Amino acid sequence: MTQHHPAERIVVLTGAGISRESGLETFRDADGLWSRHNIADVCTPEGFRRDPMLVDRFYNGRRAELASVQPNAAHLALAELERAAHDGRWNGELLIVTQNIDDLHERAGSRNVLHMHGELRRVRCTSCGATPEWLGDCLPDTPCPACHRPTLRPDVVWFGEVPLHMDRIETALAGCDRFVTIGTSGTVYPAAGFVAQVRDHAETVDINLDPPQVPTLFDRTLIGPATRMVPQWVIELLGA
Ligand code: APR
Repeated sequence: MTQHHPAERIVVLTGAGISRESGLETFRDADGLWSRHNIADVCTPEGFRRDPMLVDRFYNGRRAELASVQPNAAHLALAELERAAHDGRWNGELLIVTQNIDDLHERAGSRNVLHMHGELRRVRCTSCGATPEWLGDCLPDTPCPACHRPTLRPDVVWFGEVPLHMDRIETALAGCDRFVTIGTSGTVYPAAGFVAQVRDHAETVDINLDPPQVPTLFDRTLIGPATRMVPQWVIELLGA
């Protein structure tokens, strides 16, 4: 009689660094978005109230950029790991919690993805709550397709707002055996606090170009570009 090992449960937290090699900018790297844009103007509800045209133009530009980029080897490797769980090559469960608002995980084939900071290819109506998929530009006078009022905003979580899917994320963190961060600076909470939250019950791994701010929080660090380190880590996992 063979003994069945319970599936290994992995939570992967991704940040802007995983999409850097696809051509999307990060926020805090030297040439990052926040070196050219003021967070208070484009990433707060107050900024949106002050100048909705400025904010809409900022997200319209990023949304247009999405059409010109593709998932990279890191996104594809995570999608492969999820596929391996489905077809039995890997006895595990993978959940991707992403801080990214791009759709490169889904375009790579990942299905088990939670966008805790929202999605660029959606808008949200502040009157009726509809969150329609949105691929083009959205301006302050653009009517909501559901209630026809001109009260749409980017479906993105701004500073001072509560991230999305926190109940499911907390449940997954409490039950994970391994927690892996990829391409995040670990500066924005609550995401930056997840590693300390899981350390008592999960192996913690950081994958980044640079060492983590608090190395003692991680059992293991893999330093290098995501497109090289993530496929390596997945091959190792599938080989184990
Ligand atoms: N491979 C791996 N890591 C990389 C790569 C790469 N090719 N390029 C950059 N990085 C790393 C950087 O070293 C840095 O640690 O990615 C990280 C990017 O950090 P940030 O720009 O701070 O992005 P992120 O951590 O996702 O920001 C968190 O802040 O501005 C808000 O809402 C926004 O979701 C975002 C949150």
